[in-house]
Amino acid sequence: MRGLFITFEGIDGCGKSTQINFLTERFAKMKKPVVKTEEPGGTAGSNEIRKILLRENNFQWSVETEALLFMAARNDHVEKVIKPSINDNKIVICDRFMDSTLVYQGMRSSRAKQLSLDLFQLIAINPDITFLIDMEPEIALRRALRRSTKEDRFENYGISFQHELRKNFLDIAHKHSDRIRIIDGNQTPEDVAAQINESIEPLAI
Ligand code: TYD
Repeated sequence: MRGLFITFEGIDGCGKSTQINFLTERFAKMKKPVVKTEEPGGTAGSNEIRKILLRENNFQWSVETEALLFMAARNDHVEKVIKPSINDNKIVICDRFMDSTLVYQGMRSSRAKQLSLDLFQLIAINPDITFLIDMEPEIALRRALRRSTKEDRFENYGISFQHELRKNFLDIAHKHSDRIRIIDGNQTPEDVAAQINESIEPLAI
């Protein structure tokens, strides 16, 4: 038996964190061992990389190099947290994973996309299921800006960028419909959670 690897994806402000908290609590109540984590991050080393990647006005690298830094952070996270937890029969819930790199960096450069895909082959772990919380960028952006964190380098591109992100996430979801469930994020958080629970049931019970 092995654990379960669940990832959440979506544009900035789509409500991922709320849903991740709901699902984590649900598993905890069921007494299932659950690990909640995020990318970039999840380990001390990955958090170091996160700090420099998400620093405001940090445009010193090409998008290809940026993608490699996200992949380096991912490798550390997979090695130290994700793989060991899954091998230990735990449920890992991760806020963003490889699909974010394919969208955020991949849509800006096909070479960045290819480099990431090549490295991902070596990292060699795929989520069992991915929830793409799909929502109107206008609503999502309003939410994201309200949160006003310091790490808003990727959130400051504006509405047309968010539309582009959404389109790219949906394209990937359609291409990998066996793994990715598209969830309508324009509903109430409770209705979104109900839809997620329904998809999880066959895997986690
Ligand atoms: P974060 O504050 O965690 O935002 P969110 O709550 O929206 O996940 O910041 C992560 C940012 O990094 C987000 O804007 C997406 C971006 N990102 C990439 O550009 N590439 C990646 O591979 C990952 C994992 C995230």
